[in-house]
Amino acid sequence: MNSADGAAVVVGVDGSEPALRAVRLAAVEADRRRRPLRVVHGFIWPLLRVPVGQPPDGPPGSGLRHQAEDLVARAVAEAEATRPGLRTTGEIIDGEASAVLLGESPTAAMIVLGDRGLGGFTALLVGSVAVQVATHADCPVLVARGEERPGGPVVVGVDGSPLSRPALDFAAEQAAFRGTTLHAVHAYRHPTSGGPGDMQPLVYDQNELRDEEQRVLTESLAGIAERYPDLPVTREVVRDRPVPALTAASRHAAMVVVGSRGRGELTGLLLGSVSHGLLHHSACPVAVVRAPD
Ligand SMILES: Nc1ncnc2c1ncn2[C@@H]1O[C@H](COP(=O)(O)OP(=O)(O)O)[C@@H](O)[C@H]1O
Ligand SMILES: [Mg+2]
Repeated sequence: MNSADGAAVVVGVDGSEPALRAVRLAAVEADRRRRPLRVVHGFIWPLLRVPVGQPPDGPPGSGLRHQAEDLVARAVAEAEATRPGLRTTGEIIDGEASAVLLGESPTAAMIVLGDRGLGGFTALLVGSVAVQVATHADCPVLVARGEERPGGPVVVGVDGSPLSRPALDFAAEQAAFRGTTLHAVHAYRHPTSGGPGDMQPLVYDQNELRDEEQRVLTESLAGIAERYPDLPVTREVVRDRPVPALTAASRHAAMVVVGSRGRGELTGLLLGSVSHGLLHHSACPVAVVRAPD
């Protein structure tokens, strides 16, 4: 179970600088939640039948297995430097990185990753491991990117569907942990045209639309006020697409939280487009929280 007592915060490392940023973020999270930290490296080479031992003519400490041990040890040391005394373990698990990390997700409290890693296509703004894991994990996934403004609000995107409920709960918990404000953003755009030739009224009552969207947000937040009576909550109802609206809010935030998928105008097509957009554009760390099936 994700919520099992003692479930570890898991951080994926590959020897890159972004992964070390993830380690620092993960150490703070684990400490805050009083959980152990588990540093995990997915080690692909044995699967590809590449020799991983020290080459007979190589210097001591050479070979892929040693390199992996070194990068994990560096990450563990970084965690201990960030939060001295934190229970931290390092592990090398044979397999492809996203598969290894997704294997951790049913038993992890949270998985923390860098937005980029060692390799990949520089044309992509965010690495494929980060996207894969954020999309499919059973537990919340926190992707280190941008700048964390410690006193800033925890921003959460609310689409009004039950799908954003777990994200809202996670964000409220984060804000309460941090003693900061929860800032709920509900972006809306409508009415949308159904296509060419579609009959649309020429004039909409903007105020009425806005009132309706305000109501959507108020309903979504009702449970939060009950469970976190002391939590300061601010709200923003904005006529915009969700990704630009949340990206703008992320510039002043400690963290931005979104569901792994939302209601999407074209259900099935746009699922997850907001979480993907934020992973690419957020100015602060992004938490992606699994939406109910
Ligand atoms: N082999 C791996 N083992 C564990 N975690 C990894 C591994 N590779 C990448 N990660 C995690 O995923 C993050 C993003 O890396 P990735 O998606 O591979 O980006 P890139 O395409 O730039 O290499 C890394 O910062 C790290 O946290
Ligand atoms: Mg990579």
